[in-house]
Amino acid sequence: MILKYVWDPFVRIFHWSLVVAFAVAFYTHASEWDRLIHIRAGYVAGALILARIVWGLMRTGYASFDSFPLNPLWAVKHLYRVMQGQAKHYIGHNPTGALVIYAMLATGLIAVISGWLVFNEGWLIDEPALLQSLHHYSTWGWLALVVIHVSGVLVESILHRDNLIWAMITGCKRVCKINERRPQEIKDNF
Ligand code: HEM
Ligand code: HEM
Repeated sequence: MILKYVWDPFVRIFHWSLVVAFAVAFYTHASEWDRLIHIRAGYVAGALILARIVWGLMRTGYASFDSFPLNPLWAVKHLYRVMQGQAKHYIGHNPTGALVIYAMLATGLIAVISGWLVFNEGWLIDEPALLQSLHHYSTWGWLALVVIHVSGVLVESILHRDNLIWAMITGCKRVCKINERRPQEIKDNF
């Protein structure tokens, strides 16, 4: 068994900061007193997501979007293999995890933008009820994705006997029995 350095410091700091910003925004959402804390946490989440998008567009190894392509078909196939107990082990994000990650980044952006619009009385959009609904569904939808995400992380950790949570803290994964495969090879495999 060897340890492989997978998650760079940016990804790890981004991840745990986003978890905190999301938790604070959710915890403070219902209180008028905490509205300013809610809004600031929301802005922090938005800034983190934008920074992650820039990082993903650069040549950043396993953090690069090229290394975990958005492909719903691969995502479904990987999930099917997980259920059959024949899932492949990926060094970076697996295709199902990748789909949920992209969904969380997109939903997070919608939540922040819609929150900003609600707070600024719609800015140029004179549809307060619609914007409130958008903020409501995007934030609760994001929470649902987080539940799916954490369940997926736990399932993969158990299946592959690899503590993915610890890897997101230290940056290192246990890579015994893993064949490193580049995106093109992943594509050929599906
Ligand atoms: C607000 C809650 C959360 C959000 C929004 C979130 C979001 C994300 C995102 C965007 C990534 C991709 C990382 C990247 O490539 O930059 C990720 C990966 C990951 N997250 Fe979370 N996460 C949340 C909570 C958690 C929690 C509570 C845990 C641990 C129990 C966790 C464990 C992980 C792990 C282990 C990975 C790497 C998965 C892999 O190895 O492929 N996340 N998360
Ligand atoms: C991490 C990002 C955010 C999360 C998770 C979040 C979460 C929530 C939730 C769950 C609600 C209650 C919605 C409902 O159940 O109907 C809410 C309300 C609200 N949020 Fe956010 N929010 C975020 C970002 C923002 C931002 C960036 C702003 C403003 C700049 C904002 C402004 C508001 C306002 C004004 C309300 C009250 C809406 C109303 O009166 O119905 N939020 N937020």
